[in-house]
Amino acid sequence: MEKLLTSNLKLGIISGGQLGKMLIQEASKWGIASYILDNDEECSARGVASHYVKGSNLDFEAVYEFGKLVDVLTFELENINIEALKKLKQEGCKIAPSPEILELIQDKGLQKQFYQDNEIPTSSFELYESKSAVLIAVESGAIQFPFVQKLRKGGYDGRGVAVISDVNDLGKLLDGACVIEAKVAIEKELSVVVARNQNGEVKCYPVVEMLFDPKANLVDKLICPSVISEEKSEKALNYASKIIETLDMEGLLAVEFFLDTKGDIVVNEMAPRPHNSGHHTFESVVTSQFEQHLRAVLNLPLGSTEIKMPSVMINILGAEGHEGPVHYEGLVESMAIEGVKIHIYGKKITKPYRKMGHVTIMSASIEEAQEKADRVKQLIKVKSCKRN
Ligand SMILES: Nc1ncnc2c1ncn2[C@@H]1O[C@H](COP(=O)(O)OP(=O)(O)OP(=O)(O)O)[C@@H](O)[C@H]1O
Ligand SMILES: [Mg+2]
Repeated sequence: MEKLLTSNLKLGIISGGQLGKMLIQEASKWGIASYILDNDEECSARGVASHYVKGSNLDFEAVYEFGKLVDVLTFELENINIEALKKLKQEGCKIAPSPEILELIQDKGLQKQFYQDNEIPTSSFELYESKSAVLIAVESGAIQFPFVQKLRKGGYDGRGVAVISDVNDLGKLLDGACVIEAKVAIEKELSVVVARNQNGEVKCYPVVEMLFDPKANLVDKLICPSVISEEKSEKALNYASKIIETLDMEGLLAVEFFLDTKGDIVVNEMAPRPHNSGHHTFESVVTSQFEQHLRAVLNLPLGSTEIKMPSVMINILGAEGHEGPVHYEGLVESMAIEGVKIHIYGKKITKPYRKMGHVTIMSASIEEAQEKADRVKQLIKVKSCKRN
């Protein structure tokens, strides 16, 4: 740590969205110089980064040249040119999490195989090459309704996922190499953020519950801690620890779970980076997920994950029917409510359901935090000066 504070460490982050911005906010506490790579000159992190480099996360040259500028390279999204990361690693660049782990997680098919190979419960699945292969399998009865189709690569925020309940939904099928999963009867969606450093120290954050907006397919409300039994919570925490240890990973890993209607805990998917389901940690937990990611990547002692206060987190999403230069309403009124902490990502353009910020609401009880969160949801509106 002493060395870190005097070494003028250069941390590279691919790319500069809100997760990158919050990572930089924490890195700046330790005087770390932050470099970001992003094609968007108006990306959220640019205003707080020490250095901005224009370039695409998918472009070999851009990623490779960027990696050579920094001492430690990390990322805030999965969709990155892996070949460039592998070459950088071969040449001695410190990359955390490792390119091999990112490569596995980038592909939902490989992820599912990893769970199966390591006896981590997940819904049953088969891999298919294309939409037509899926249709043939449906026709022959090899795939039965209801099922969920996920593109192996490139999906996020529910894009790349199709829930097929019956024959009428077949028009929703996506084209491309995909995973076909059994549809889980979901009681609750849960998440555990876990961190591990090079020394092998592992720390989990408490289990949170995610409530989804069915229209946007985005987290609508996050509840920390989740209201589940001690036994179920232990199971989720143990699976998250087992996964990060089996991967031999350095950094932060978010593991999404389903609690099904039979009471079983199954893994849905994972992300090797700070995650939407850990945003509340900024204020309501002793160490934020962003600081923890830095501690894990830099092999520093991991920080306490103890809850300071129960909290609810809500995403601030662009309103339906509004696209263009952003205009916020209700921020000041919300801020007047005790325990309300507002984060605005600084995106200049709003679009329907675009993540524009988030709010953490802390209160003595979850019930009170929920009630305040509902008030904040009514108050905050993200509109555009130009209406569609
Ligand atoms: N096997 C399943 N059974 C039932 N519902 C599912 C299943 N898989 C996914 N879903 C639903 O679809 C949502 C999105 O799926 P998933 O998390 O795999 O995709 P994603 O695009 O990576 O999402 P995100 O980026 O928001 O985490 C889940 O949160 C869940 O509500
Ligand atoms: Mg998900």
